[in-house]
Parts: sequence; C-alpha cells; structure tokens
Amino acid sequence: MRDFDCLSVRNGVLHIEGVNILDLAERFGTPLFVFSEAQIRENLRRFREAFAIGWPGPVDVLPAMKANTLLATRQILSNEGAGADIYSSEELAGVLKTGVDPERVSVNGGGKPKNHLRNCVAAGVRITVEDVHEIDLIQEVAAELNKTAKIRFRVKPALPNLWRPTDFSQLTVPIDLGVQVYKSGIPPEYLPEMGRRVLAMPNVELVGLHFHSGRHHPSLWYWEGMMVRYARLIGELSKAWGGWQPTEIDIGGGMASPRDPHNKEFPRSEFLLTALGYPFLVGLRGLGDKAYHALLGKIVAALTSHSDPKVPPTIEEYGRGITSVLCRELKQNGINVDGVRLQLEPGRAMYGDTGIHLATVKTVKRQTAPIPYTWVLTDTTYFFLAGGVLEHNRHPFVFVSKPDAPAMQTADIVGHFCYADQIVLGARVPEVEDGDVVALLETGAYQESSASNFNSLPRPASVLVHGDQAELIKRAETIDDVYGRDVIPERLLTESDETT
Ligand SMILES: Cc1ncc(COP(=O)(O)O)c(C=O)c1O
Repeated sequence: MRDFDCLSVRNGVLHIEGVNILDLAERFGTPLFVFSEAQIRENLRRFREAFAIGWPGPVDVLPAMKANTLLATRQILSNEGAGADIYSSEELAGVLKTGVDPERVSVNGGGKPKNHLRNCVAAGVRITVEDVHEIDLIQEVAAELNKTAKIRFRVKPALPNLWRPTDFSQLTVPIDLGVQVYKSGIPPEYLPEMGRRVLAMPNVELVGLHFHSGRHHPSLWYWEGMMVRYARLIGELSKAWGGWQPTEIDIGGGMASPRDPHNKEFPRSEFLLTALGYPFLVGLRGLGDKAYHALLGKIVAALTSHSDPKVPPTIEEYGRGITSVLCRELKQNGINVDGVRLQLEPGRAMYGDTGIHLATVKTVKRQTAPIPYTWVLTDTTYFFLAGGVLEHNRHPFVFVSKPDAPAMQTADIVGHFCYADQIVLGARVPEVEDGDVVALLETGAYQESSASNFNSLPRPASVLVHGDQAELIKRAETIDDVYGRDVIPERLLTESDETT
C-alpha cells in the first residue's frame, strides 16, 4: 500500500496532484514531461525515515542528478537539505546553483580531468575516487589550492553469491559477471596500497568508502547479498590500513521504483528468437505462406504478451533489509558503526514515479494480412525516452480520459520517428481515437535527461505540478536550438551560390 501517489482518477480523468492531465496537455501541448513536487518531497522523506530507523548514525540521501537534471526538481531537493550524487563538472555547477551542502555531494565517475578535480576540491565536495592514478592528481590540486580534499574509494567487491540473472542484459548473465564487466569501481587488488598511500598524503583525507552496482535485480535478496560482500571488504581494508575506520559508508543507488519498468520489454526473447528460434522460424517456411504467417502472428503475440510485473520492495522494506544486514555484517567484520554516516544515492527510486510523459495519439494503424497487427502511433518517440530504451523499460500507461475503459485490443504503442520507435509492445489498450492523450508512467528518472534530437525534432518541455498549479520548468526546444550549434563552412555556401 503506497502512502501517497501523485496520480489519481477524478471524474473519469487522470490527475496529477490536483491538476487534470487533459488540461495540461491542452495548455502546454504534447509531448510533455510532467513532474509532481509533492511526490519528490514524499519520496525523499520516506528514504530518510526508512533508513534512519535501522541505522545508528546520520543518514544522507544523495539523489542521483543524472536521473533528473532539471534545476527546479533539484531545487526542491536542495531546499529539503538533500545531497547529490553527481558525475561531471556541469552537474556540479547545476547542484551548486541550487544551494546544496557541498559536504553532501558525491562526485562519481572515472577519468576525471584535472580541472574537474580542481573544481571539486575548491567547492569542498566529496570526491569518490574511481581510478588508481586519481589520488595523485587530487593531492596535487589540493596542495595547489592549499586545501584538504575529502575522498572516498568507490570499491567493487566480487559478488559470487549473486548468481541470478542481471536485469542489465536481455541475455542470461549472472549478476556477479554483470558487475565484474562494468567499468566502474576500483578492483580490490589495488585498494590496500592506494589506501596506505592516501593515509600518508598531506592534502587528502580518506573519509569513507562507496559502492554502487546499480539495479541488477529489484529484490531484497540482491541488496542483502551485496551488503554482505561490501561489509566484508570494508573489514578487510580496515585491517590492511592499520585499523582505519570509515566515517561515511555510501551504498550508491539501484533500488527499483514502485512500478518498476526495468528490463520488462521483450525480456530475453531476442535471444530466443535469434540464436535458438531462427532455425525454427526458417523451418516453418515449409508450411506454405498462409500457415507460416498464421504461426508467426501467434509467436509474436506470445512473445510480446506481458503478465503483471512483480511489485518490487517498498522504500521501507529496502531501508529495513539493507540497514539490518549492513549493520550486522560491519560489526562482524570489526567496524564500529556508531556515528558513521550512511549515504544512499537513489536515482530511479527517487524520481521514477515523480514524472509522467504525455503523448497524443496521431492515428491508429491496422494491418489485417498476412499478420494482423495494430499500432497506436503517437506524437512522441522513444528518443525522448532513451534511458528507458537502453534498459528495455516497459512503461505502464494510462489513456488520460479513459483510465477505466476496458482493454479491447492488442497494439504496439509507437512513436512517429523513423526508427521502429516501439514504446510499449503488445499493449492491451481500450478503443483509442486520434487525439486521445496517453500518459506513460514511471518516466521521472533517466528519460527527460537522456532525450535526444533524432529526426531534428525539438525536445519537449517539462512542467512542475504543485497542488492545483502547473509551472513550466524547462521550455521546449525550438528549431534554433536544434540547429544552433551547426556551422556550414563559408566555402560550401559560396559553392552552392556558384552552382545555382
Ligand atoms: C554512482 C551512482 N550512484 C547512483 C546511481 C543511481 O542509480 P539508480 O538510478 O539505479 O538508483 C548511479 C546510476 O548510474 C550511479 O552511477
């Protein structure tokens, strides 16, 4: 049962907080991103409270800026005293603009250039070290600035206890392998020596450790397994560094959002279709055209059909499960947890359900032969939902003026760009007409921040809802924005004059 959901149906129309979503579509146009201020504040509060209950020291929530780079949403979090997980100097500039406490900013990422490190040390943020040579650069810039840089090592424990398939691949790959082949994190063999060197550096202070492995699995089982291996590694490092004790332990992000869309589109079936299924499908050709197409139609329907996804743990369940295992395992590995700051960097679970993406149906296209098929063609594109495409998201959706209408047909909800532009495959949809507005849910994380301009289409605007008010927080792009960085060399322009 959710404490608060910014979405509700009132008088047969989907609302976000107190605002009728049809009115939003009419006022601002579609495609459009819409965010709920109340949901942002609520999610932050729940994370703080859920983790504070089971942890003996302070808890900092550092929402991942990459998941949502809008300054207005970030301002809400900074006003609430939240920290931030950031990656680039540009994200650093963004969070600092909103008055975030620099002590609560974790700067992640490998290959940090020297000028970025200088900006970090000057701002007094935490540098989460990823590369072996980074510590020397940090010492150098901190000495130049006559400051002490506070750093943490981003570690990468082996996770042989996590053998279930990772959700980051549509193939069947164990989580442990998925984590090992991901570039981030310092491999454990370098850490003892790096720590000893840092502890002797005059301008660098090692305040803690950081581990982010991402949303490989939505379950608590996954989190508990990670925390066991993380705590064991922290204990080993503490011994290797002469009893060093962390004052900050960061567990990164990777909790699933409530309607978790991750890796639910066509799961693993591409493999089935290509490696195993292809010879079978080719073999079907022997049946003759009619039977062949009839069977193909059934196979496609079976592969794209979708049962109700399992509900992931709530924020409270994550909080209880993670803090109890982490506390127990750290103590067993010789770490005193009293007063240690626990930090977490939720991205998708912080923002996912705070946003929706609105699109208008342009046309419903039907094919009856040789394979019957229906497409609901909308005015948006999966290029505006690119983060979700990379993660094979299957977004829940609601037709805004028909939230309770029975599903009458199966159709692919698609965009209008000239790729396949498949947004929801094999969706069960009601009778739909041109002009209907569809809300794609759970699009508050990674979507607006990853939108691109394929087909030269301007990226959509974003709106923030607060009670019964809606305010523009990012305008839509114009054609000048789209072509604004292009330069046609003068000689080509002259050549075109000469040939005309
Ligand atoms: C270091 C770090 N922290 C936090 C996050 C947020 O992860 P999620 O959105 O899965 O919670 C990311 C995402 O890539 C990350 O790289």
